[in-house]
Amino acid sequence: MNLKIAVLAGDGIGPEIMEQGVAVCSAVAAKFGHEVSYREALCGAHAIDEVGDPFPDETFRVCSEADAVLFASVGDPKYDNDPTAKVRPEQGLLAMRKKLGLYANIRPVETFDCLIHKSPLKDDVVRGADFVCIRELTGGMYFGKKVEPVLNADGVEEASDTNYYTRPEVERILRVGYRYAMARRRHLTVIDKANVLASSRLWRKVAQEIEKEYPDVTTDYMYVDNAAMRMIQDPGFFDVMVTENTFGDILTDEGSVITGSMGLLPSASTGTGTPVFEPIHGSWPQGKGLNIANPLAQILSVAMMYEYFGLKKEGALIREAVNASLDANVRTPEIQAVTCDGTQRRYGTKEVGAWIVDYIGKA
Ligand code: IPM
Ligand code: MN
Repeated sequence: MNLKIAVLAGDGIGPEIMEQGVAVCSAVAAKFGHEVSYREALCGAHAIDEVGDPFPDETFRVCSEADAVLFASVGDPKYDNDPTAKVRPEQGLLAMRKKLGLYANIRPVETFDCLIHKSPLKDDVVRGADFVCIRELTGGMYFGKKVEPVLNADGVEEASDTNYYTRPEVERILRVGYRYAMARRRHLTVIDKANVLASSRLWRKVAQEIEKEYPDVTTDYMYVDNAAMRMIQDPGFFDVMVTENTFGDILTDEGSVITGSMGLLPSASTGTGTPVFEPIHGSWPQGKGLNIANPLAQILSVAMMYEYFGLKKEGALIREAVNASLDANVRTPEIQAVTCDGTQRRYGTKEVGAWIVDYIGKA
């Protein structure tokens, strides 16, 4: 297969983990005889500094012309505490999602047996948790009408975001949820706040209609506050969950830590344009340049990319190599197991990536 890949490394630890993701991507391509080519493009704070736009037109063109986008992370502390900034790195990510029509964000939450002790949850609660969150990605409060902080007629400062959804937007994401549920354990949980929000009542109404088309799937409905609780009490309950943009953002951060490290979870954003594969974690500016960032989420995003194109063996080999690296304790510092005599080697971003590339080469 020929694959043209746009590479958007972005900010913070992005470039370091991307280097390993690309190396693994190339190693797998070489192994299975695929042709991959890469084109790098600017995004995030980095792009603001260079050209004044977090998602420049040129980057959009590179993404549109590619078969897939590998994305790392965007964000920079200099914007985090400046609510008046006219342009923000995160807008680059949102523009990319919107312009490429990436309405479905697939976030699998899987546990690795050897890392369960790192979970803040008790072993027996988290063991075996394995679910997928399907997060709507181009609607809701993220994209609804906004009023930035402004003085109103009474001289009081006000601001608002509109949680706007249309029926077709809800319907298409629910269908993605059902597709995943059909391919898994046939259990779909629709997460909303229909007891309070009108937008959620639209979700529930549409879901109750569509549910009838999927009699093989058990559908249940859960309020988001309850779902947040259930996720830490009994994560094994979930198979596929589908929810709106904001709820999905929050729940997937929660989901990622119950597995032990945020640095392990990949995601795929798909829809009408070029699909994007990216870790769910952020740009971790404090870790930048220190060779300590975990590259596994980026590497597993490459696995999701191969699988998206139907290349199952390629994806499986990456997963096998990642598991082998964990078993061999070739891990970045935040998950490294301490041996009794404390003499184990330290591995950084580069060493973990190189070990995985080597494993793939020898497989
Ligand atoms: C994510 C991130 C983004 C989001 C930010 C960086 C805009 O948190 O992908 O989950 O809120 O969607
Ligand atoms: Mn998030």
